[in-house]
Order: sequence, then C-alpha cells, then structure tokens
Amino acid sequence: MTAPIPRDIPLPLPAPEGFLEVLLVAAFLVHIIFVHLMLGGSLFSLVCQIKGLKTPDYEKLAYRIMQTVTVNKSLAVVMGVAPLLIINTLYAPQFYASSALIGDMWMAVIPMVTLAFLLAYLHKFWWHHFINIPELHIGIAALETGLFLFIPLIFMTNVNLMLFPEYWPEVKGFFSAMLLPNVLQRYLHFLSASILFTALFLVWWTGRKTFQQEAHFSESHIIISMRRFFYAFAFGATIFQILTGLIVLASLPAQGMSWHFIMLLILGGSSALPAIGWMWQNLTRSTHLIDDNFKQIIACFAFATLIMGIARHDYRENALADHKAAIVEKTANYMAAVKEAGEQAQQAAKTQERQASVPGESAFNQNCAACHHATLPTVGPALQEIKALYADNPSGIIAWTKAPGKKRPDSMTMPGFAQLSDAQLTAISHYILSH
Ligand code: HEC
Repeated sequence: MTAPIPRDIPLPLPAPEGFLEVLLVAAFLVHIIFVHLMLGGSLFSLVCQIKGLKTPDYEKLAYRIMQTVTVNKSLAVVMGVAPLLIINTLYAPQFYASSALIGDMWMAVIPMVTLAFLLAYLHKFWWHHFINIPELHIGIAALETGLFLFIPLIFMTNVNLMLFPEYWPEVKGFFSAMLLPNVLQRYLHFLSASILFTALFLVWWTGRKTFQQEAHFSESHIIISMRRFFYAFAFGATIFQILTGLIVLASLPAQGMSWHFIMLLILGGSSALPAIGWMWQNLTRSTHLIDDNFKQIIACFAFATLIMGIARHDYRENALADHKAAIVEKTANYMAAVKEAGEQAQQAAKTQERQASVPGESAFNQNCAACHHATLPTVGPALQEIKALYADNPSGIIAWTKAPGKKRPDSMTMPGFAQLSDAQLTAISHYILSH
C-alpha cells in the first residue's frame, strides 16, 4: 500500500530541529513518568481498597495512595502540553493525519479525561462519605481506573498510526487503528512500566519516616509487608516489561530498525538487569532489609528509561525518514510550481496591460476580428489588404464601416457598425493601419 504524501506547511520551525528533538524526548519522559504514577496509583489504590475489605489497614493505604494520584495527574497533564506541542510542530503532517483518522476518539479524550478526573476527586475527597458503601466507592474507583487505563491507549494508537503512513488509506476509525500490528503490545509494555514505576514509588513513599503517622495503621509492622507487596509488583512488572518489550521489538515494522536503535535497546535493557537482581534479593530476604540498594535500583531504571526514550525517538525518526523526505520534496515542488504560476500570471497581466495600451485593439478584437484576420482573407479581406487599400486614409475605413458597400462578388455583405462612436472608429482605423 502506498503512503499518501501530504504537503507540509512552508513555514520555518520555531527553533532548530535538533533542539526540538532533544526537548521532545526530555519533555516526554517527564510527562510519561507522571502518567505512570497517576495510572499506577489509581490501579494500586483500587487493588488496596479491595484488599482492604479483608485487611482494613490496606483500606487506609488505598486512601493514602489516592492522595498522590490527583497530584500526579495534575503534573501529568501540565507536563503533557510540551511534548504534544512539539510533536505537533515537528511532525505536523503525520500527526495531523493520524489525529484526523481517529478523530472521534481523539476528541473523546477531552470528556473522558474530564470524567476520569472528576471521578478521581470524588473518590478521594468523599472517601469518608462512602465508608459504609464500599461497593459503590470501589465501583467509582474502578470506573476512574478504567478510564485512566483507556486514555493512554488512544494516545498510543495515534502516535503509532502517525509512524506508518502506508496504513492510513486502510484505517477506518479508532478501533481499526488500534488493531494495527504492535499497538496492543506497546500498550502492555507501557502498562507494565506504569506498575513498575508506581510500585517503586510506593516502596519509597511508604518507607518515609512520617508515613506510619500519616496512615495510622493498626498494626505497625504491616508496613514491611506492604512494601514487600509493592516490591513483588515491581519485580513482576519488570519481568513482564522485558517480555512485552521483546514482543514489541518483534512486531515493529522493519522500516524503523537500525543498528543504532538495536544498540540503544540492548544498552537500556541491560542496564535494568542489576536492578532485577537487587529487587530479587530484597524480596527473598526476611525482614527489614527491603531498602537495600534502593537508590541503585532507581538509578538503573532512570538510566534505562532515558535510553528507551531516546531509542523510541530514534525509531520514529527512522520509520518516518522516507516519508519526511517525500514530503519535503513534494513541498519544494509545490513551492516551485506556485512560483512559476505566479510568474506566469504576472507575465499575462503585463501582456494584457500592453495590449490595452494600444488604442483600438480591444475594440477591433471585439467587433472586427471575427471576420478580419491579420494576413489571411477569411470572411472579409485580410488586414494586410485593407492596409494597402487605405494606407493614408483612416477616414475611408471609418466611412466604410459606418456604411459598408458591396465590393467583392464572392463575399458576403459586411454588416454596418452604426453603434460605434467616431472616437472608437478612429481608434480602430488607426489600429488597423498601424498593425
Ligand atoms: C460579419 C463579418 C464582418 C465583420 C464583423 C466586419 N467586417 Fe469588414 N468586411 C466584411 C466583408 C465580408 C467585407 C468585404 C465586403 C465586400 O467586399 O463587399 C469586408 C470588408 C471590409 C473593409 C474593406 C472595404 C473595402 O473598401 O474593400 C474594411 C475597411 C472593413 N471591412 C472594416 C471593418 C471594420 C473596421 C470592422 C469592425 C468595426 C469590420 N470590418 C467588421 C465582413 C466583416
């Protein structure tokens, strides 16, 4: 299937392209970290609230987690503005096309996000109002989490569709774009990152000195098992992350592949390996040692995330290289054609001006040219012949035209032109003689 090649908007970028690319990767990473914490927080709050039906301390934990969700949500939204704007600037034709192709769902992001946020606030601020109706409260949390889970899928479908213009002609709305190869794998990869980051965040958050006082747990040692609970999720999510990452790699179309990209993936992937070892140690050790190497674990994942962010951009640039080049060419051709057409129009305007400045020419063209050709006798005699007949006698032409006689036996009779003024006829006669 051939990719449609739209034209670019022929305006310069507001900043050097390389700078915008660096900014895009950096701004996207900041944004996505908070998205992970928002989504993961919402999920963990839900899970802990359900667990809290049996172990009440988990209900308190769920409440504490929910306090972080709304903050991280606000940061995710605010930090999402920059990458969205830069994507719009750097990949205007592609991002416009993919957004338009999934238009309904893309627009639906706004009401969905609004609803999700309102539900999150309802869930958090009215916590104690719902204390006797936990089913309803959990239902609200589930709906909010469901929306939080679905919205990133729309974004992912869009940025994936943007990468592969050859699919544009066959895509029919959001769901067909969502089912293109590799979207769902990428989504699972993203989801496991949310769980991983949030689990690690909660290991840190519940490990703060003041946390016990904030949460008022009935059993003080429960924090250790809670933190082990999060570590277990972090560990499991990392394994899932690697597996889904490999599936994504296998499903990515070859057009974006490069050695550069593969090297980045190997570097990013392997930098997470020590963290897996440390997490496993922490999980299997008996008691308080849960914080062992925590900073190193975070450093490993931070580095891996940075490299993956760069790799992601690298793949995008590779995947779109041909399409971008084709757009540049098409735009350049279009600009050249516009320039040429402009010049032609200017030329035509000049010619017209010149013609209009010869008196009598347009009146002759309107009234006489149908029957009088410059050199060939047609209905009437050629201008050449008329010139020869009336060389120094413009008033003879005028007199004839006002009242044509019958001269040439093979010709029809020339119609009279009583409607033309003397001035017009003078101009016409001069035009004929000067021709
Ligand atoms: C419908 C066709 C027609 C149009 C329009 C027409 N002519 Fe003629 N014209 C003729 C024909 C036919 C003759 C030849 C008549 C004849 O010889 O009997 C002729 C002849 C002439 C002659 C030659 C007269 C001669 O002494 O031999 C002049 C001068 C002339 N036309 C001027 C004009 C001018 C000026 C106009 C426009 C204002 C004009 N004509 C429009 C058909 C036309």
